[in-house]
Amino acid sequence: MQKNTMWLKFNLQSLRVISILAALLVGFWLPLRLIQFPLPVEYDWGVDILISVVSLVNIYLHFEENQLDYKKMSSWLRFGVVLDFICVLPLLWLEQKIFGYEHRALVLLNLLSARHIWRIKSFLDQFHSLQPVVYRLAPLLLMMPLLVHIVACGWIGLGSGTAGADPDKMFEYIKAIYWSFTTLTTVGYGDISAKTPAQMIYCCFIQVIGVGVFGFVLSNVASLLSRMDAAREHHMDNLDRMETFMRSHSIPSDLKLRVRGYFRHLWKNYRGYNDRSMLSELPTKVQSELLFFINKSITKKVPLFKGASQELLEDLMHELQPRIFVPGEKIFKVNEAGSSMYFIHSGTVEIINSEKKHLATLQEGAFFGEMALIFDQPRSATALAQTYCDLYTLSKESFNKVTSAYPEFKEHIQKVIHERTKNAA
Ligand code: CMP
Repeated sequence: MQKNTMWLKFNLQSLRVISILAALLVGFWLPLRLIQFPLPVEYDWGVDILISVVSLVNIYLHFEENQLDYKKMSSWLRFGVVLDFICVLPLLWLEQKIFGYEHRALVLLNLLSARHIWRIKSFLDQFHSLQPVVYRLAPLLLMMPLLVHIVACGWIGLGSGTAGADPDKMFEYIKAIYWSFTTLTTVGYGDISAKTPAQMIYCCFIQVIGVGVFGFVLSNVASLLSRMDAAREHHMDNLDRMETFMRSHSIPSDLKLRVRGYFRHLWKNYRGYNDRSMLSELPTKVQSELLFFINKSITKKVPLFKGASQELLEDLMHELQPRIFVPGEKIFKVNEAGSSMYFIHSGTVEIINSEKKHLATLQEGAFFGEMALIFDQPRSATALAQTYCDLYTLSKESFNKVTSAYPEFKEHIQKVIHERTKNAA
């Protein structure tokens, strides 16, 4: 059953790709045909048959994608379906039979099928793995050249303004593309301008379209560029706000340097993002997988975690919170009440007793602050960050939760405490 659904989805996607490509081909081919660009006439029949077939496909897609009932009359009475039915008709054949080959107006109706190019957006929505940049750029890259082309062909159809007709049809087309591009993006350079009233009206119309279309393109491209380096933008924003804050409070230079140093550390190690609040918007399962992945490095660094079971690690990952300490910062003081223990991800921490005597220097992978939690007593020593320290904290509640669920974790910590007190004695 599921296989059938997947197969149907794959079929619909393939048909949608065909429909979009055909729309693109029609959008480029027909205007050229209508301005009598020298193209092999035999291909006209091919394109006409293609449009009829693809229009049938479009009607089928309309029903399948919207899950409409074929038996209901209301499903057929849609504007889009009527337009597709018009394109199903062999318009080229009808035109030749009724008006003769020189006539072009009826074939023009086939251009209606080019509107399916818009479907590129909803088509791309199905691919969750695509980068946001693709969603934004792909429709623009498909539609903009087509618009420039259609406008250029319209301009040639009206006589190409002051540039006039050219025996070299390719050169005439290139000049029209140039006119179309400059008129759509700006108001044109005036080197090719309108001569007849029809050309003037067309020119005004295209300029109005140009304002809207290129406003849309520019805003998309601008937001795309700014998002490309969103992390740096976000970081620079934070830094700017902090600089303004420090300036308005006349903060002394050495303190300013320390703050900047902290931001540099944040950028180097976390690309400026150390805030996990955005994860709370995710479903719990995805959240826990993400946390597990983010915190994976700490499980490799801390020997205590190395032999731990997968369940214990998964539970721990949920409870660990990252914190950064700057050089010289006291992580906690002796005799303070202990509310959490710490795991060192990177950096160096010095442990000093109440007589300011050096007890130990702890590095990457070590933990400290566990005694206060195990024995429910005040801190036995002071912990001081010697360098920038990236630590993971485990709160007392989480510690109690984990140790009661996994007694082996507690035993392991007790062994380390035993070693520490033995060495200190
Ligand atoms: P706690 O008593 O909560 O706070 C101070 C911490 O310093 C203590 O837990 C231990 O984690 C750590 N500590 C105390 N003495 C030593 C030592 N001799 N060697 C290493 N770490 C120590």
